[in-house]
Amino acid sequence: MNRKYRKTVIAGNWKMNKTPSQVKDFAESLKALIGRVKWCDIVICAPFVDLPAGIRQFKDLHVGVGAQNVSEHPSGAYTGEVSVEMLRDLGVKYVIVGHSERRQYFGETDDTVNKKVLAVLEAGLQPIVCVGESLDQRDKGLTLDFVSCQVKAALAGVAPEKMRKVIFAYEPIWAIGTGRTATAHQAAEVCHHIRAVIRSIYGARVARSVTIQYGGSMNDQNAYELLAQPDIDGGLIGGASLVPEKFAAIINAANQE
Ligand code: 13P
Repeated sequence: MNRKYRKTVIAGNWKMNKTPSQVKDFAESLKALIGRVKWCDIVICAPFVDLPAGIRQFKDLHVGVGAQNVSEHPSGAYTGEVSVEMLRDLGVKYVIVGHSERRQYFGETDDTVNKKVLAVLEAGLQPIVCVGESLDQRDKGLTLDFVSCQVKAALAGVAPEKMRKVIFAYEPIWAIGTGRTATAHQAAEVCHHIRAVIRSIYGARVARSVTIQYGGSMNDQNAYELLAQPDIDGGLIGGASLVPEKFAAIINAANQE
């Protein structure tokens, strides 16, 4: 974390979990567990149908609500899709873009990720852009090159003044849902590299203002050490964000003066 230059953001990614009627219980439990959170922003990225309940229930808690995906198209004949305008109208503030599960199972490419980033920023929302290598790529020593390409592709055509709204999440695919967290050293190296790539495009001032999260089996046990790294400005948390006690413990790890 480096709070002098950028926000620390702890975001939960519920993936395809929890129904609208389960949101209230979660919010009430979380409320009882976290005190006044001063040092980090909290976000829950929920399934589309849970978003209205999330916006209602998380308002008092100052938890921002995010979606997990969005269409790259503004409107029209795209059955089953949801537009940025629909999310904005609801009060959604963040959108996860290019999660590895969407790249892997739903055919999202660097090009669609870029279009979605541009659409989200155009609507005034904040994209949480996910990047990260597979185990095979890591074993072959390709991690930094691969992640550079993903970052550059995601940012094509993004104006410098929009960059303060962009959040990156470094999520090594081999660490997602596996219980195998990247070491603080591995995570810090890639987050540092992502910032260097941003610096090479936009300069030092913009680069130091961008929040870069780590995601992949982050939990109450490893959060402190990961968040202590200067280039890791928060977390994107899957499994542990479904359990109020675990999510609260990660928030409390980030909410240190
Ligand atoms: P886990 O925390 O369950 O590994 O998931 C990480 C993730 O994919 C968050 O987007």
